[in-house]
Amino acid sequence: MSLTQLRIGMIGINGRGGLWRHWHDPQGRSVVVGAADIVPEYLDAFRVEHEKAPFTTLDYRELIARPDIDAIAVTSPDYCHEEHAVAALEAGKHVFCEKPMTITIEGCDRVLNAWRRSGTRLMVGFNMRYMNIFRVMKEIIESGAIGEIRAAWVRHFVGMGSDFYYHDWHATRQNATSLLLQKGSHDLDMIHWLTGRYTKRTAAFGSLDFFGGDKPNDLTCPACPERDTCTEVSRSRRIQCCFRQEVDVEDNQVMIMELEGGIKASYLQCHFTPDYHRNYTIIGTEGRIENSEPEMTVWVKTRVSNSWRDLADRAYTIKPARGGHGGADPVICRDFVEMCLDGKEPLAIPLAGRMSVAAGVCAAQSLRNGGAPVDVPPPPF
Ligand SMILES: NC(=O)c1ccc[n+]([C@@H]2O[C@H](COP(=O)([O-])OP(=O)(O)OC[C@H]3O[C@@H](n4cnc5c(N)ncnc54)[C@H](O)[C@@H]3O)[C@@H](O)[C@H]2O)c1
Repeated sequence: MSLTQLRIGMIGINGRGGLWRHWHDPQGRSVVVGAADIVPEYLDAFRVEHEKAPFTTLDYRELIARPDIDAIAVTSPDYCHEEHAVAALEAGKHVFCEKPMTITIEGCDRVLNAWRRSGTRLMVGFNMRYMNIFRVMKEIIESGAIGEIRAAWVRHFVGMGSDFYYHDWHATRQNATSLLLQKGSHDLDMIHWLTGRYTKRTAAFGSLDFFGGDKPNDLTCPACPERDTCTEVSRSRRIQCCFRQEVDVEDNQVMIMELEGGIKASYLQCHFTPDYHRNYTIIGTEGRIENSEPEMTVWVKTRVSNSWRDLADRAYTIKPARGGHGGADPVICRDFVEMCLDGKEPLAIPLAGRMSVAAGVCAAQSLRNGGAPVDVPPPPF
């Protein structure tokens, strides 16, 4: 009998685990019935807000063993994704796996292989594919208005980089491999999605230019004597000192890519800019498209050919949408439910998750080895 309501369990309920609120709709098509986390207080807070006595456990294996759960959302830290996603798939659950799919190429391939064996459905948390500003760009590119795509330039100013990445676990290679596949997995995926091609070869330069340093690893912002004057004092729940010794992921990096079909792309990611902005330019044989996130605008410029193909240059104002990440979070959650209940093909497909991690891992390898180009290994199937 086909399902009419999807019963979801969450692994990692704080932080990104807050997605549960989009899925929990007892009168609707999905309901969140349980959660696993290693912090009892987060599970307590979930039970209080949920009100309907959901199942909670400190051991994720008890969650995925439950026969009354159809799907698992993996919203734990990056270094847990492989273990949690593979175990859930092997238990016959549908899986929503947050980005990055895992922190290694081999880990991604193990997730893909588990998915293929399972016969269940898998998607990744690429919510940028669901943001209005990038959907508009995708639609224009697909209309053929800028011709055949030949180049992509992406600049990512990660303002408040310390709040997002340097005050907690994200700041070490052991936990994240590189911010090119952590933060950058979204942008690398958008380069792939907008051009319609995956990275074949990449080279990169980068270093740790601002964060890290000689502060003790156990120093926190509330306990720091410099907290009143430090530009990076934590404004979030993440409070480890961002100038601590263990920090070793690069904060200033640039990668170049050759995509399938010979498309050239470059991606610059800097974590100590005062402002937050993702600036995308895609160039085709007949024109160019560019966005501004702060201005919520997309511009299209086309070449003059004196033919019927001539189009006006134009600007699009993007409508603000309700919900987290520019309105993308409720929509990606709905896509997951429709994938599981209706068999719909999701926008955020598993292969895309693997290919963006693979590009980021290869770029990190390159920049840690003098910038030599690295070929991206093909996916397992
Ligand atoms: N798509 C997006 O826009 C987006 C945004 C933010 C975060 N993320 C991703 O979501 C994931 C979580 O990020 P976050 O910022 O919420 O991290 P976080 O560290 O704040 O929260 C992770 C949660 O997982 C729990 N956890 C940690 N280890 C666990 C384990 N072994 N078993 C079960 N639970 C465990 C933590 O206690 C916490 O509740 C990351 O992979 C991140 O990349 C995606």
